[in-house]
Amino acid sequence: MATAAHPHTVSTPEPSRTFPADFLWGSATASYQIEGAAAEDGRTPSIWDTYARTPGRVRNGDTGDTATDHYHRWREDVALMADLGIGAYRFSLAWPRIQPTGRGPAVQKGLDFYRRLVDELLDKGIQPVATLYHWDLPQELEDAGGWPERATAERFAEYAALAADALGDRVRTWTTLNEPWCSAFLGYGSGVHAPGRTDPVAALRAAHHLNLAHGLAVQAIRDRTPAHSQCSVTLNIHHVRPLTAGDADADAVRRIDALANRVFTGPMLQGAYPEDLLKDTAALTDWSFVHDADLRQIRQPLDFLGVNYYTPTLVSQADGSGAHTSDGHGRSTHSPWPGARQVAFHQPPGETTAMGWAIDPTGLYDLLRRLAADFPGTPLVITENGAAFDDYADPSGNVNDPDRIAYLRGHLAAVHQAIADGADVRGYFLWSLLDNFEWAHGYSKRFGAVYVDYPTGARIPKASARWYSEVARTGVLPA
Ligand code: NOJ
Repeated sequence: MATAAHPHTVSTPEPSRTFPADFLWGSATASYQIEGAAAEDGRTPSIWDTYARTPGRVRNGDTGDTATDHYHRWREDVALMADLGIGAYRFSLAWPRIQPTGRGPAVQKGLDFYRRLVDELLDKGIQPVATLYHWDLPQELEDAGGWPERATAERFAEYAALAADALGDRVRTWTTLNEPWCSAFLGYGSGVHAPGRTDPVAALRAAHHLNLAHGLAVQAIRDRTPAHSQCSVTLNIHHVRPLTAGDADADAVRRIDALANRVFTGPMLQGAYPEDLLKDTAALTDWSFVHDADLRQIRQPLDFLGVNYYTPTLVSQADGSGAHTSDGHGRSTHSPWPGARQVAFHQPPGETTAMGWAIDPTGLYDLLRRLAADFPGTPLVITENGAAFDDYADPSGNVNDPDRIAYLRGHLAAVHQAIADGADVRGYFLWSLLDNFEWAHGYSKRFGAVYVDYPTGARIPKASARWYSEVARTGVLPA
């Protein structure tokens, strides 16, 4: 969200900080990034299988065919979490495993996999947090038009109902979508994510139908699960800052805040698309794909808002030529920002992770304060935060990752400060439990607290896993 003043939250030396006793300490993954077993037990291709198999799309031609082999090693991975004392596990269900064509009855073997996983988590005292959609749309639904089409939202509601029927007795916490901004604008706008389309109007249509899918799915889950079930959505809210003070750059911030954030929070939490967004994109579309009744469907009470944060976004007003500088979302000649040719993106100052993303915990602090102010009464959960670094196992088999520990420490201090200053933040999920398939970057970027030796599949907890384990067990961020 847009910038806000912040105190010096993360200066050194740090005091030790105690989190609320019921704060949830978790780790997160996603189906396509870890499961592998791409053709097992009835699973058929998703858009990411197709995209990854298309030459030139993913670095080194990597695919999720094997990934971390979690589909076979799930028990070991749950044991790892239990050993680390992690209290909650955020994972996603693979739609093409449960409903391979995106239509019709569920595949028993697909459901059984998640039942076993959830039962094992519960057995070990780890709270399951299930995401219905982390980007693996059944290919057949894309062939029928994908997210730009209303029918995909209707199919999603049916899939949500199947998942809730099968797992609602044991999964208490549900998330409908993960980062719908990426699905819509990287998938259909810049094309750096599956399905790789580059059509700005399709991207806007996709955003709306993802919103609709969310609202319909929340209703399907609530209708089918016990009253104590919790429903949420995870957004990668961009913390947008202006390059310079002044009206021109403030307007660039406003435009990107609309296209990145308010395009989702408007309908989901406030029941309407922002007027300025409709105006900024009027040359592209009249938004007639939004039906009146949709807005009532989309706005559903949420038990919390999931927030993924990695880095801030720095913008200024440009000359309108559309020549974008790096915005951290991959190389493409096509912009993921429909109707925002007047905006230039800049590399924020400071050190970066292996993704080239600036490390800035104050962005997380500002973001949490802003969300708390904008949506009072909606609790927040950090559903992802973490960093990629060039990790390797040393000759004695240890993986030392002091940079990741410093990153996590800084961001957790920012979360703690935001709570102290009034933000209702209920939990934190480290991205990621394991090194995994980092989308267009393939296996070249390692986000895990646990190192994966891909040739053997062996898991090695990094120093950061041991560090995080201590924080999770004690609820104290050490000095
Ligand atoms: C957000 C996505 O949800 C996740 O799949 C991805 O791996 C991380 N960010 C890191 O880029």
